[in-house]
Amino acid sequence: MSARDARALKQRLDSLAAAGVTQLPKASRRGSQTAATPASERQPEPVAADPGGGTDRIRSLRILNQQVADCTQCVELAATRTNTVFGVGPPDARICFFGEAPGADEDASGEPFVGRAGQLLTKIIEACKLRREEVYILNVLKCRPPGNRPPLPGEVANCRRFFERQLEIIGPQYICCLGTSASHALLETTEPIGKLRKRWFTHGAAKVICTYHPSYLLRNPAAKRDVWDDMKVMMTDMGVEL
Ligand code: URA
Repeated sequence: MSARDARALKQRLDSLAAAGVTQLPKASRRGSQTAATPASERQPEPVAADPGGGTDRIRSLRILNQQVADCTQCVELAATRTNTVFGVGPPDARICFFGEAPGADEDASGEPFVGRAGQLLTKIIEACKLRREEVYILNVLKCRPPGNRPPLPGEVANCRRFFERQLEIIGPQYICCLGTSASHALLETTEPIGKLRKRWFTHGAAKVICTYHPSYLLRNPAAKRDVWDDMKVMMTDMGVEL
């Protein structure tokens, strides 16, 4: 076993221990995923049946979070990050707000949308008669790009297994994409954000709406009116009285 694989194995075992796993089954089938599978080749854990809605999701998210924390696929991001930023919110949230990538404040704290853009996002959520604690907030990238540059296509590709799995576990009814990077990553399109607004998309069973990113609103306050229009469309569809 190479030193790299040994490191990956140790991270995998630490990750399983963090999730409360104390015993491992013997690997049986050729090609099956074992504790020795290097981080870069690991497939996300299968979704556990969750009829009661809660415990299995919490456990699955905890395991995924540990896999994110162990990930070193994007060499530059792994070398420069302080914390990975997984996401926050109820594991069975009805709505997810999907952003681009952590900034400096998020990298320092490990929580998404805590800086100026995050404070504006909280105001948007509250204007929708929701509380921040009742929505799930996540990003495309789980690591801060240096200098807050936009995510590179390869970085989005590396993080796709994480955000797709995260959304699969949560199973929201609605996903609100904040800005171009989130909209493009989720919908796998290159259409400009202006053309993606005011339309409904689907992602699995979720209805998807796209709007401007709060950071864009900080630079262009006039666009707040457009975001409010988008939120009204979403809230009306959700049956929330404004
Ligand atoms: N911008 C994002 O897209 N995500 C964050 O977490 C913070 C700022």
